[in-house]
Amino acid sequence: MANASGLISPSVPCIRRRNPSSFGNSRSGFCAVEKITKRVFRLSAIQGAEELALGASPSKARAPGLVGKGCKLVGCGSALPKLLISNDDLAQIVETSDEWISVRTGIRNRRILSGDETLTGLAIEASRKALNMAQVEPDDVDLILMCTSTPDDLFGSGPQVQKELGCKRNPLSFDIRAACSGFLLGLTTAGFYIRAGGFRNVLVIGADALSRYVDWKDRGTCILFGDAAGAVLVQACDGDEDSLLGFDVHSDGDGQRHLNAIIKDDQSENVLSSNGAPVFPPRLSSYSCIHMNGKEVFRFAVRCVPQSIETSLERAGLVSSNIDWLLLHQANQRIIDAVATRLQIPPDHVISNLANYGNTSAASIPLALDEAVRSGKVQAGNIVAAAGFGAGLTWGSAILKWG
Ligand code: ACO
Repeated sequence: MANASGLISPSVPCIRRRNPSSFGNSRSGFCAVEKITKRVFRLSAIQGAEELALGASPSKARAPGLVGKGCKLVGCGSALPKLLISNDDLAQIVETSDEWISVRTGIRNRRILSGDETLTGLAIEASRKALNMAQVEPDDVDLILMCTSTPDDLFGSGPQVQKELGCKRNPLSFDIRAACSGFLLGLTTAGFYIRAGGFRNVLVIGADALSRYVDWKDRGTCILFGDAAGAVLVQACDGDEDSLLGFDVHSDGDGQRHLNAIIKDDQSENVLSSNGAPVFPPRLSSYSCIHMNGKEVFRFAVRCVPQSIETSLERAGLVSSNIDWLLLHQANQRIIDAVATRLQIPPDHVISNLANYGNTSAASIPLALDEAVRSGKVQAGNIVAAAGFGAGLTWGSAILKWG
């Protein structure tokens, strides 16, 4: 396949790591894990054997077993709400226009949860499709990472996804909350569970319904967001089939002032003691709507995302001309274009579905990946540079090989 420079790239299994030993001690490269992996795998294997000898119940969660040192992406899926809101629809509720929104952002439509649709329902639909493509049964899933900042349950939606999927061995399932970087962080977390923990099949879900926290009277934010879910099945494999080639992740709490949805106390009556003093503060709280300084977030994204991808490429021993597909968090077409220009990646190697769905937060990368895989754009062995960025602030990137 032609690479980003229009040259023919080597067949993917032959990708050369430029200098593998130079990043073995990096704080966020996968190679750092390899040394401890052998130790952990040996321990896991002994534990697993002991449990078998003791006649462990088949319904019990499988003890992490002996696996190889690599992990690969073997299935994907996505799901969308039915209700479509166009720019023209929004122009009826705030002072804006299709022209302003599409020129400044690239967005034309978005999907919003309505009726009895739930975020968990979308996550389950996306997960079933990913498992189906991967030909993995729910009972063979070892871990579910539900990446969302807008769960249906404050305490996390992961266990509900596990239940509804019918994973009877009770595999661990928990939420990762990192806004638009959530899926990227889920992917790297899956890599660690597989390499250092001996897990085999990890389902990584990115799902968000930011429409729940949008001020529909604020034209600066309500035009941007949509709801969706995407999922990827990450599977343990031999080291030479490894597909998570390098990554880089960061956060900067100082930037929270530019993008947040902070907890606020709702008005409620105090319960008074006999002497008239409030006894216990029955303060009910909820989250405020999304507050964003768009210009600052824009600047942060175009500065940090290319740097992060360059770092990930270096850790993977690759250069930007090895990238077959640039797949960024879908926030603004101008951000996507600026990053592609900086990395010298031509437009026909850039994945974008922003026009149809807007910014779907943690769902945007797996949703766009799923569409690109199912349409035949991304093919087995293609190198994908993925990057997420958003509230926290958090950001990160990963170099992946599909399939
Ligand atoms: N329609 C018409 N006019 C508008 C609209 C609108 N929807 N929104 C703002 N304007 C006006 C403003 O009032 C302003 O008018 P003024 O010049 O008279 O004051 C003018 O347009 C320019 O406004 P800006 O906010 O400066 O517009 P900008 O070019 O920065 O675009 C945008 C705003 C689209 C939000 C952009 O800054 C952006 O995309 N930022 C990045 C957002 C992002 O990537 N978020 C990702 C993370 S999300 C997460 O993690 C949850």
